[in-house]
This record gives sequence, C-alpha cells and structure tokens, in this order.
Amino acid sequence: MEVERVQSIASLSKNTDTIPHEFIRSENEQPAATTLHGVVLEVPVIDLGLTDDSNGKTIVELISEASRDWGMFQVVNHGIPDQTISNLQRVGREFFELPRAERELIAKTPESGIEGYGTTLQKEVEGKKGWVDHLFHKIWPPSAVNYRFWPKDPPSYRQANEEYCERLREVYDKLIKWLSLGLGLEEQELKVAMGGEDTVFLMKINYYPPCPRPDLALGVVAHTDMSGLTILVPNQVQGLQVFRDGHWYDVKYIPNALIVHIGDQIEILSNGKYKAVFHRTTVNKNCTRMSWPVFLEPPAELEIGPIAKLVSEESPAKYKTKKYKEYVYCKLNKLPQ
Ligand code: OGA
Ligand code: NI
Repeated sequence: MEVERVQSIASLSKNTDTIPHEFIRSENEQPAATTLHGVVLEVPVIDLGLTDDSNGKTIVELISEASRDWGMFQVVNHGIPDQTISNLQRVGREFFELPRAERELIAKTPESGIEGYGTTLQKEVEGKKGWVDHLFHKIWPPSAVNYRFWPKDPPSYRQANEEYCERLREVYDKLIKWLSLGLGLEEQELKVAMGGEDTVFLMKINYYPPCPRPDLALGVVAHTDMSGLTILVPNQVQGLQVFRDGHWYDVKYIPNALIVHIGDQIEILSNGKYKAVFHRTTVNKNCTRMSWPVFLEPPAELEIGPIAKLVSEESPAKYKTKKYKEYVYCKLNKLPQ
C-alpha cells in the first residue's frame, strides 16, 4: 500500500476548512486550547562570540544555567555563515518541492531504519498523526554516511549539507566542551562519553505544509529528543513551542540563531543536572514551515548512563545504563526505559 504524505493531503485540503480526523488532536493537546497566547517566551540567548563576561557570568555559566533551568537555549555569533545556513535551507526546500515521484526515490523502506523520506516516526496514541513529513540522513562521521538517502536533486544538495556539517562540528565541539566544564568535568569528558569522534550527526528536515486547521492539528507532538544534543535551524515561520511552568509557549524566533536542545542522553549522562526540554510544534494556515534539526547521538552500541564522577551517595544514579540502541528501541515503541 502506498504511504500517504501529509504534503499530498495538504494540497487536497487547500481551500477547505476541514482536515482528516486522524490529524485532529484530543482537546488536551489542541494548540488553540493549550497555548498561552500573547506571550512569547524568551529562552536564553547566548552569544558564542562572548569573550568577556555578561553580567559577570562566563559562557560556561550561561550555558550550564540554561541547560539546568530550561534544557534549551539559542546561540548567536556561532560562526556559521548566514550563506551556509541559507544554502542548507534552499536545497532542502528544493527537495521537498520536487514532484512526489522524485521524493519517493529515497523513501524509507522497512530495512532502511530511520534514514530516508518518510511520514510517521513513532507509534502514536489512538492512531493520531502529525501534520509533517520528514527526511532523515546521517551527515557524520563519514563511515556512517549512506548517500543513498541524500537527495540527488538539487545537485548542490550534497555540497550544501557537507559545508553546514563542517561548521556544525565546530559548534558542537565548543558546546560539548562548555557543557562538560559546567558539570565540573574535564573539557573532553562529556564528548568522550557521547562517543568522541564516533558521535553520529543525524540530519532531519521537517516539512510542515500549510494546514487549514492549525488550531486543531500539531506538527511534531510533545516530546523530548532522544539524542544527546540537538542543534536546529528553522525557517522564518513560527511553530516551535516549549512547555514551561505548566503551559505551552511559542519560542521567540531570532533570525540566524541556532536553537539548541538538551536531549535525553545528556540528561542521563549528567545524572539529571541538565534537563531534556519538552517541546512540540504547531503548524500554519498559509505558510509552509520547515526546520533542520541535527541530532547528535552516541553510536548505537555505546552504553550510556550517569557519568561515574557525577554519582555519589548524596546523588545516586537516577537513570539506568544501557546501550543507546536499546534506549531508542524503547522510546520508539513507548516501552518503559
Ligand atoms: C523534532 C523537533 C522542532 C521543529 O523534529 O524533534 O522537535 O522546530 N522539531 O521543527
Ligand atoms: Ni524535537
């Protein structure tokens, strides 16, 4: 049976004000009913070009505070040229604007695992669906890359992604170093615990077509990322929301900033000192929203658990130690960890 793509459903629902029932969220999830309107949440914005203190705080303190208190922050002056980001966005958009048959050439298959063009990732409760299609492919390390899942069209897709990846690796190296220092560890300890040079960079493109009922549907449902860290660029359309103090808020959009999420693996490694952020996305009536998260993941076989130095009698291990692939299996199948 052919898989339905949200993009096709969206073009059929244009000029209507209804959507198929499987996209209508239960009332306790509907964005119109559950978003705190009129407030845009100002998540911490951290200037990576900062050499001096800001209000007497070092960059390590700022990042560590944001990761403890919010599980997320935005970074500016990150060193990735605007052009590199806009090229990444352009080639991704061009791929999703190809005729459907072209996109299906790199569709997920039962054997392809997470990589490829696809529509649903997780089993959802009550058979509900998110208003989003996606493409996943690994971009680093070279031994993990399978170009079979990279678009051939547009022809510049590969170069644009490789250039972004090269710069993103530098940003990751800085962030993971500061996060490590913020836990009182040596500079390289957290990076090593994440797999060192074998940490996988998994690119995802989210494509959220216009939706006639953005008040009732969600893009990606509420979740924490199972990665260690996620670094994301959105297009200019609002949609990312975070849960804070019992409410859902829109995250303020800052042009050319990178959005950083603490994921489950860094929460675990830090023994709960850093918190994975609970987030979701909404969709828009007239505009296509897109986003490019890169998930920084430990290699599948690596065991992840609280770092020994962070465990003591006063602060016992709060999480089990298990292989990353086992964590992923449980999370995707909604089994207890
Ligand atoms: C995700 C996600 C956020 C966004 O794909 O895990 O949370 O802004 N995306 O699209
Ligand atoms: Ni996410």
